[in-house]
Amino acid sequence: MHMKFSVPTAATLLASGLLLVTGHTAPTPVGSPVVVTTYNITSGIPPEGLSSIGFPIIIHDAVEGYSIGQAVQFGHITTNQGTLALQPYQNSAGSTLVRAVYSSYVPGTTTSDKARCRNPGTPDGPVIVCTWSVPAIYNTPYYLRIWHTGDSTWSVSVNNACLQLPIPLGTFALPDDAGLIQASDYGFVEYLPWTSVEQPDCSTLPYQRSTFWIPAESTVWGFPEQTGACAGEINASVGRLGTTLEVRSGFPGQTGA
Ligand SMILES: *[C@@H]1O[C@H](CO)[C@@H](O)[C@H](O)[C@H]1NC(C)=O
Ligand SMILES: *[C@@H]1O[C@H](CO)[C@@H](O)[C@H](O)[C@H]1NC(C)=O
Repeated sequence: MHMKFSVPTAATLLASGLLLVTGHTAPTPVGSPVVVTTYNITSGIPPEGLSSIGFPIIIHDAVEGYSIGQAVQFGHITTNQGTLALQPYQNSAGSTLVRAVYSSYVPGTTTSDKARCRNPGTPDGPVIVCTWSVPAIYNTPYYLRIWHTGDSTWSVSVNNACLQLPIPLGTFALPDDAGLIQASDYGFVEYLPWTSVEQPDCSTLPYQRSTFWIPAESTVWGFPEQTGACAGEINASVGRLGTTLEVRSGFPGQTGA
């Protein structure tokens, strides 16, 4: 599974402002995103890869069901992915929180972090999921970070200027030969209730707006595209301000099927 983006003039268009995001038919990466883009750090990366990377992401508007994040690839096997995501939700007391989630799709991932990580046991899903809930802070960037802590072990955390200290999301181990983080992978906006629906009612997608920052200097964004069963039908658009990428999707007032 390798994402391909081949719209050479789109980046130029993108630089000029808000642009509709059209559908395409490439296979989707892990999960079932409705919009994907790519990042590519074009200089300063050691040949073996990165031992640490962080992604600032703002949620401006989003409702429960959305999962907004960035993926990382370990080593040179394209399916060896991990995803860092923010998922707004309401708890049973009616408060809005954000679940910060790391999902490892690398076969053989293990964890001894019982407080935060578990194996969800879904056949085609992640091997290990590490998660922690944090206050919902809209319009201020969250910072999702992953770093190598030892031979095969990695840690993940979430921070926000309003939280002041990074909050651990968990610790896990990859197989010895997994390798380090590669310079290029993808960002995604996913609507989780549609994961198990073959053909959702596309016109019911709730509205979200979020902003991705580049993870490092010398990063270029690929052209965002709609994916999945509703590709081309979910009212998605992107805007660019400096090096940030604002992604909107869905229909204001809709609440999901
Ligand atoms: C990333 O950028 C480098 C340098 O411009 C290029 O050689 C490489 O093909 C790009 N990789 C991807 C996956 O876009
Ligand atoms: C599509 O989204 C934009 C915001 O990005 C919104 O203004 C517009 O009303 C939406 N269109 C529909 C048909 O809901």
